[in-house]
Amino acid sequence: MPEKKILTDKIEKIDPGRIGSYGGFKALEKARGMSPEDVIETVKASGLRGRGGAGFPCGAKWEMAKNQAGDEKYLICNADEGEVGTFKDRHLLSQNPFALLEGIAIAAYAMGAQKAYIYLRAEYRYLLKGLMEAISQARTKGVLNDLDLVVQEGAGAYICGEESALMNSIEGKRGESRLRPPFPTQNGLFGKPTIINNVETLCNIPHIIQNGADWYRTLGTEQSKGTKLFCVSGDVPSPGVYEMELGCSLRELLDLAGAKDIKWAQVGGSTGGIIPVENLETPLSYDTVLGSGAVMVFNESRDVVDFVYRTMEFLKEESCGKCTPCREGTEVMVEILGRLVNGEGVAEDMAVLRELSGTMRLSALCGLGQSAPIPVLDTLTYFSEDYENRISQSLLLRSLKAING
Ligand SMILES: Cc1cc2nc3c(=O)[nH]c(=O)nc-3n(C[C@H](O)[C@H](O)[C@H](O)COP(=O)(O)O)c2cc1C
Repeated sequence: MPEKKILTDKIEKIDPGRIGSYGGFKALEKARGMSPEDVIETVKASGLRGRGGAGFPCGAKWEMAKNQAGDEKYLICNADEGEVGTFKDRHLLSQNPFALLEGIAIAAYAMGAQKAYIYLRAEYRYLLKGLMEAISQARTKGVLNDLDLVVQEGAGAYICGEESALMNSIEGKRGESRLRPPFPTQNGLFGKPTIINNVETLCNIPHIIQNGADWYRTLGTEQSKGTKLFCVSGDVPSPGVYEMELGCSLRELLDLAGAKDIKWAQVGGSTGGIIPVENLETPLSYDTVLGSGAVMVFNESRDVVDFVYRTMEFLKEESCGKCTPCREGTEVMVEILGRLVNGEGVAEDMAVLRELSGTMRLSALCGLGQSAPIPVLDTLTYFSEDYENRISQSLLLRSLKAING
């Protein structure tokens, strides 16, 4: 299956420093000729789901915020992009910031927001100048009308990409997740109704408004409409951003990147699902695996338990520490996995990892702690032999040590 370039189509043709090269803001003009309710209906009918990871229906989120009482409402574009192996938002921000600004202007109009933020990943500071220039040009051209659009630099923490921690960060507080409900659409930034959308989600909006919901619904699968930007990295000859219709198989994507000798791929970032080589026909959609669209490829030379250990070390480090299941759970997992990697595993390790995973999935406060066990559980399913070998090696080492005194 070839790429299906919709969001990335203009990228090779426009000059990101010159608004004139973008070509018109026709979707924004069309949206402003519609009622906000009709814009929301169109987005709802398109079936667009959030591209930041959770896949929440975009139009429904907009409607919830629009229906809240009061005039003070906020729109936040989540450009934190801290997920491991994810670099699609950077591609869109740096190559075509005008599409994002058009999406923001349409979203703000539809929900009735007077103020919007772009929360930009701290490590993307080098993009700030270009983005500010694009905003300045958009303001001069009347794209933003009286929308107050602010770029807020991120706090440099993975958790600050999580929407509730992100709002805390903008408010000048520590980046920690909030208990839900209330949801951001009811009680978000500074206690006001707030929509938080990913960069890629917002970049879809001009295409949907311009071409209509029916056109958009012809792309993708029943539950997963449109295209998706996948970020392929790891053991592949041609890493990069690939735009594919949702529902394409992992094999089709990896063929484009020239991947060979695959042992497994992790889809969706550090907490994403593990797909072993036998399952490469898995379709990439919200029904199966997707997350942020990161696809990290690991070849035959890679060690599964070592990989899970390193992943868990990252998650432990990045846990905000507010809830016990995530703070302590990731810590204990690192301890167990570390023992396995260092030849000090015990027979119960696999069972304890499974049980702890179940507890974290059910009781952690936010997506970080709830999803951290996914790579553990998936590798215990598909690569149990690798864990068993580590335990056998540990037992053998202990016996040898006992014999040798
Ligand atoms: C630990 C964690 C990190 C996240 N990081 C990001 C991120 O960097 N960018 C993003 O758009 N969404 C991220 N999300 C998802 C957001 O919480 C939220 O679902 C998303 O911004 C909503 O926008 P969407 O509906 O357009 O996807 C993260 C979630 C979790 C649990």
